[in-house]
Amino acid sequence: MSNNIESLQKEDRIFSPSPEFSATAHIKSMEEYETLHAQSIADPEAFWADQASSLTWQKPWDTVLDWSDAPFARWFDGGKINAAENCLDRHVAAGKGDNIAIHWVGEPGDTRDVTFSELLTDTCRFANALKARGIKPGDRVLIYMPMVPEAAVAMLACARIGAVHSVVFGGFSATSIKDRLEDSEATAIITADGGWRRGSVVPLKANVDEALESYDAVESVFVLKRCENEITMTDGRDVWWHEVTADVSEDCPPEGFDAEHPLFILYTSGSTGKPKGILHTTGGYMTGTATTFKYIFDHQPDDIYWCTADVGWITGHSYIVYGPMANGATQVMYEGAPNQPDWDRFWQIVADYKVTIFYTAPTAIRAFIKAGDHHVEKHDLSSLRLLGTVGEPINPEAWMWYHEKIGGGRCPIVDTWWQTETGGIMITPLPGATPLKPGTATRPFLGIDAAILDETGEECGPNEGGKLVIRKPWPSMLRTIYKDPERFKETYWNEYEGIYLAGDGARTDDDGYFWIVGRLDDVLNVSGHRLGTAEVESALVSHDAVAEAAVVGRPHDIKGQAVVAFVTLKEGIDHGDDLAAELRNHVGTEIGAIAKPDDIRFAQALPKTRSGKIMRRLLKEIVSGGEVKGDTTTLEDFNVVASLQKED
Ligand code: WT7
Repeated sequence: MSNNIESLQKEDRIFSPSPEFSATAHIKSMEEYETLHAQSIADPEAFWADQASSLTWQKPWDTVLDWSDAPFARWFDGGKINAAENCLDRHVAAGKGDNIAIHWVGEPGDTRDVTFSELLTDTCRFANALKARGIKPGDRVLIYMPMVPEAAVAMLACARIGAVHSVVFGGFSATSIKDRLEDSEATAIITADGGWRRGSVVPLKANVDEALESYDAVESVFVLKRCENEITMTDGRDVWWHEVTADVSEDCPPEGFDAEHPLFILYTSGSTGKPKGILHTTGGYMTGTATTFKYIFDHQPDDIYWCTADVGWITGHSYIVYGPMANGATQVMYEGAPNQPDWDRFWQIVADYKVTIFYTAPTAIRAFIKAGDHHVEKHDLSSLRLLGTVGEPINPEAWMWYHEKIGGGRCPIVDTWWQTETGGIMITPLPGATPLKPGTATRPFLGIDAAILDETGEECGPNEGGKLVIRKPWPSMLRTIYKDPERFKETYWNEYEGIYLAGDGARTDDDGYFWIVGRLDDVLNVSGHRLGTAEVESALVSHDAVAEAAVVGRPHDIKGQAVVAFVTLKEGIDHGDDLAAELRNHVGTEIGAIAKPDDIRFAQALPKTRSGKIMRRLLKEIVSGGEVKGDTTTLEDFNVVASLQKED
């Protein structure tokens, strides 16, 4: 195994769940976990069928899993289900309509509490408004919204009528919207005039308008009034949310769709080309997210749960909308930035709403550490009983700070490993059972057969680095890459026959705990978000001045990885003083602010192999501050590396 995925991390601290926590937890001990896990792996279909039966099905399934056309899985075939009914109607029918579904906090300080009954009514009205504009089952609807309850309503309304939503993160640019419109062939967009972020208005509707200048298949744009910023409405195409929902019926019976009916497409970066449209379907995804939410967050009726993700990412889909809502959870939703107006905003909200379960990203934790403990110490965080992290490996120091400063030393931390593709959490502690070690996502969830394999397909021994795989299908797995089944097979199923390749390097320790080392492909993880180096490169090369670009990551204190771009310019162009800033903005316009390179290094040439491939490994070594040590025998011209190093 190549040594770049060896991990030398050593961690001896162990934190076992308190007897009080375990006593009321859904899974109470490691023995119980071991037994259940062994059973679930021996017969995953029995385990998942049992979990699926906690959902409301309009027609029961005929087969639990059809894997005959692998890797194209069919779960719960023959069953009919409505995702929105499972998130809303059944709780109202069970007498929980007055329970709060969402305690919402706007960035400027406005607040709203929405009950399950209200959320159901809003969803039905909006679903009827979608229908009135001709949107039918299977139609793709792009959602580009701020973090307001209507973002969830928009998703649930699509699900209710069988339309396939594709949520685009509000930080992405007009070009990114256009790319996703083209790929998904969406015919409708749900957006808002604007959303609040760091004290300013993000011009969501204006970005949509710009995207629509070069895409004309959109027949309807639904616009929520949020910020009252000035926007233009195009007659016949654009309609106000409050107008189209004003006099529609609130009766919209939830039609049962096939278990394999597409629920949503979510785009995520890959190592080559444009983002991939990850397709999730209904019955299996609902089973996976509802089950994982219940056990991993140990959800109990009195919990106040808060996940700080945005609905534009998979975390927002699975652990703000579908998982928690399928469980009837009460949650907090916050619109804005963690430091608005100051770095204690999150802790103020935890104290105000007596949040009991808090789920965030390591990058946020590192930013809080940097901002200083006094922001935390001002607030009473004693309501918290469970913490979670997601998005990237958490460094043990950040874990310890989170445990002590936020969790008061008493809250278990669930470090949850999963991906847009997996739909739900795959490797994770169970908080009432698993002894924790800072920095590891610990053990596979029930029904998940995770392993680490070497190049030959043999399972690695303890402390041996290899490739993280999932050996058996699971219900919330992606079904394909939208319109690109070949890329789906090639990306995930080609390395080992019938086995899902996650793209992460990992090792297990002597206790069988999984330590995730990071991506093995040319994908960066910036602030817990995936970013393809190829995507940033193609954005750079689309600028007139640029001849060639190579993008690599370097370690960054807060973001995990920072983006470094090596750029060569076209003949006769000088970079002057302003070009670096211009290129950064250009990438912002092409993709979104998250992709703007932290450093731009202008170079005379890029190091290439004799066959013309850019040698990224050398560039990575240069930006990591190291000397270039590795093998350079295939390098075309060593002077190139020498000059790149000199500019350091
Ligand atoms: C990639 C997936 C899943 C929602 C957020 C990101 C990395 C994710 C962990 C973790 C170590 C993690 C992996 C994975 N990752 N969670 N707990 N420990 N690494 O979703 O954008 O699909 O990215 O994030 O590298 O492959 P995503």
